[in-house]
Amino acid sequence: MEFTLLLDPHSPVPCYQQIYAALRQKILTGQLAPRQRLPSTRALAQSLGVARATVTQSYNQLISEGYLQTVVGSGTYVGDQLPETLLHAPDTEPGPSASPSPLTLSAYGQRLANFAAGPSTEPNTPISFRYGRPALDQVPLGIWRQLLSRRCRRADWLDYAADPMGYGPLRGAIATYLTQARAVQCHPDQILITNGTQQALSLATQLLVSPGDTVALEEPSYLSARRIFASQGANLHPIPVDGDGLNVDILADATGPIRLVYVTPSHQFPTGAVLSLPRRLALLTWAQRQGALILEDDYDSEYRYGGRPIPALQGLGSGQSVLYLGTFSKVLFPSLRIGYMVLPPALGPIFSRAKWLADRQVPTLEQAVLADFIAEGHLERHIRRMRSHYDRQRQAMVTALQTHFGDRATILGDKAGLHMMVRFQTDIPDAELIARAEQAGVGLISAAPQYLGNSPGHEFIFSFTELDADAIATGIEKMSTICAQLQS
Ligand SMILES: Cc1ncc(COP(=O)(O)O)c(C=O)c1O
Repeated sequence: MEFTLLLDPHSPVPCYQQIYAALRQKILTGQLAPRQRLPSTRALAQSLGVARATVTQSYNQLISEGYLQTVVGSGTYVGDQLPETLLHAPDTEPGPSASPSPLTLSAYGQRLANFAAGPSTEPNTPISFRYGRPALDQVPLGIWRQLLSRRCRRADWLDYAADPMGYGPLRGAIATYLTQARAVQCHPDQILITNGTQQALSLATQLLVSPGDTVALEEPSYLSARRIFASQGANLHPIPVDGDGLNVDILADATGPIRLVYVTPSHQFPTGAVLSLPRRLALLTWAQRQGALILEDDYDSEYRYGGRPIPALQGLGSGQSVLYLGTFSKVLFPSLRIGYMVLPPALGPIFSRAKWLADRQVPTLEQAVLADFIAEGHLERHIRRMRSHYDRQRQAMVTALQTHFGDRATILGDKAGLHMMVRFQTDIPDAELIARAEQAGVGLISAAPQYLGNSPGHEFIFSFTELDADAIATGIEKMSTICAQLQS
């Protein structure tokens, strides 16, 4: 069973009380049924990224109040006679209180509630290889401030936008960039500005996937995308990935119709593999034959440190079966929440309607500032500067791994992106290594949650955006010392 508890690390309420309250709520709303077994304190602590003693304290409180009971040698279970039931003995005649709770979740809500919280990707350690952010201290905020204040001198951005698809000049600038740099076939009319890739995935899934439809995706793949498909009630069909990206032969052998395929061809997430040209062509041919759609997530294609840039999948085909997704989260900053989709022309009007219903539009002011930032050449300069910055950081990571692990660490993928996935030759369980590294002040991110099935283990995702070369070297050296200690 996937077990979700949402903890707020910034809340003044202590963690054990948050866990206590969340479990109590689940029991009282029936999400945890009488006699249902709970995860062990160790397993729950691990999945929540908290100390085991914290979970034990919450369990003990619930046991003392009668919500939980322990069965020696077997585990902890939800009590079969709940305290509230005892306190308010039920009427013999079912009255209005017997009606279902108004807080009962929809099918969508229940699917969401069943997702595992998963290990925290935010290790609170002096050195953290956490994934997801660009180098935020390098963002040219001074220029951004100037452009913003210039735009604020006028008030023509205050009203609802005339077009939910996005601010015209920004769509034009993106179309020009995509045509020149990514060989995408597009006209500005095909571009929808979204609140990041996350909203693009969400709108595409709402509009194109019905509960029970099959969505194929790379294995491993981007957890946040997978959850969107699963929350919509899609059947997930994982397709293995190797050094050439998604294995299209295996996809083509699948039985039953596949509605949509989610791929990250230019830098497979998280392995970093590039989808080879023959496979790109095979994927497009397969999609056309099957009547399937392709969601191409080109999330960090701006960063390649060697070799030639690979043109987007979208530009290789007719443009009818691919929805292309891009984001400014990696090239600028994630809280900007601006991403974009290139849609087959026939889908424009329905996406426009869905965007209007979802949240009206992306804020005009930010779109206008971004359009200026691109038009005045700042984005191009920033990307060029960051490319050499990240290239150096990446090289520092490679050197540190080679120095301290030699051939016991295999770096997967191409010289690209803002992270690398590394496979270690070791028998140490991931959870043990992560816990020991955390004690030593190093935050490691396991690749395991990105797998739908069982992960092979011993794979970690290392972001090299936020740490300087010294911190990278220190972090990897500490990890290698811990491995040596645990293995001896
Ligand atoms: C595979 C992938 N796609 C897209 C994104 C960006 O998402 P958003 O634009 O919603 O910030 C990320 C961010 O981590 C990612 O890993």
